[in-house]
Amino acid sequence: MTAFPQAGPRRPVVAETRAELGEALAAVRARGGKVAFVPTMGALHEGHATLVREAASRTGGTDAVVVSIFVNPMQFGPHEDLDRYPRTFDTDLEVCAAEGVDVVFAPSVDEVYPGGEPQVTVEPGPLAEVLEGRTRPTHFRGVLTVVAKLFGLVRPDLAFFGQKDYQQLVLIRRMVADLCMGIDVVGVETVREHDGLALSSRNRYLDEEQRVLALGLVRALRAGAEAGAGGPAHALAAARAVLQDSPGVALDYLELTAPDLGPAPDEGEARLLIAARVGSTRLIDNTPLCLGRAGHHHERAGSS
Ligand code: PAF
Repeated sequence: MTAFPQAGPRRPVVAETRAELGEALAAVRARGGKVAFVPTMGALHEGHATLVREAASRTGGTDAVVVSIFVNPMQFGPHEDLDRYPRTFDTDLEVCAAEGVDVVFAPSVDEVYPGGEPQVTVEPGPLAEVLEGRTRPTHFRGVLTVVAKLFGLVRPDLAFFGQKDYQQLVLIRRMVADLCMGIDVVGVETVREHDGLALSSRNRYLDEEQRVLALGLVRALRAGAEAGAGGPAHALAAARAVLQDSPGVALDYLELTAPDLGPAPDEGEARLLIAARVGSTRLIDNTPLCLGRAGHHHERAGSS
């Protein structure tokens, strides 16, 4: 466990083992403080910093903000980019220090999975078979298993996840409810670049031209949301029209659902989700929208 000298921004305690993590959190627990937890795979950007700020805003002097940095092999499929996934620990630590994180938990694969893949894993159920699950059939089993393990190690009161990975957020909420984990799961709004591109660790794989093409995703979502007042078919048609005009965006799916990922209602709150490949980089994004008359009301409210 490394405590950095107290110069500049307060450096977080770095725990690499379960024992070090337990030690770092013992004092917080002894004084009855809450633990606010931001699980990440590193390659931290402004989206993660926003999660940390949200965690900090919900904690006080006796509490602690914990960030985990762990690239979880179990959530990568055999042909996915585990080795290519960016690892930027030193800059991640700087981000954590600047945001006033108390503890960074950065375990090795062996520390999280001693003895290899666990025999008991979290079965994510039918919600993991739609959307991302169709092309990544084992992904959410890996995500929920590691999140459950991290919850067991950190034992947080609150946990923060971005809405950018919307299906992940819905599944984690579901796991916490179905398995009675008693953790307050907070979904934080997606952080976007000035032109609307959703921040993602994968954006760094895009070259300049692909970065421009990638804006087709957010343009489609915006068009869909704006057409929401006309009903579900209108919203989807508007989004599809934009995609037809977006060469270089190879669509995987564009789907309209209820906020809990059930079937989309004719009217009321909904979610529009998209996944597409730009070059060899697979991007996902989503937006909330209001369908039918509720959408009219929403639009008027938004424009007044
Ligand atoms: O969203 C991520 O970065 C990961 O899926 C998570 C939640 C940290 C689990 O590995």
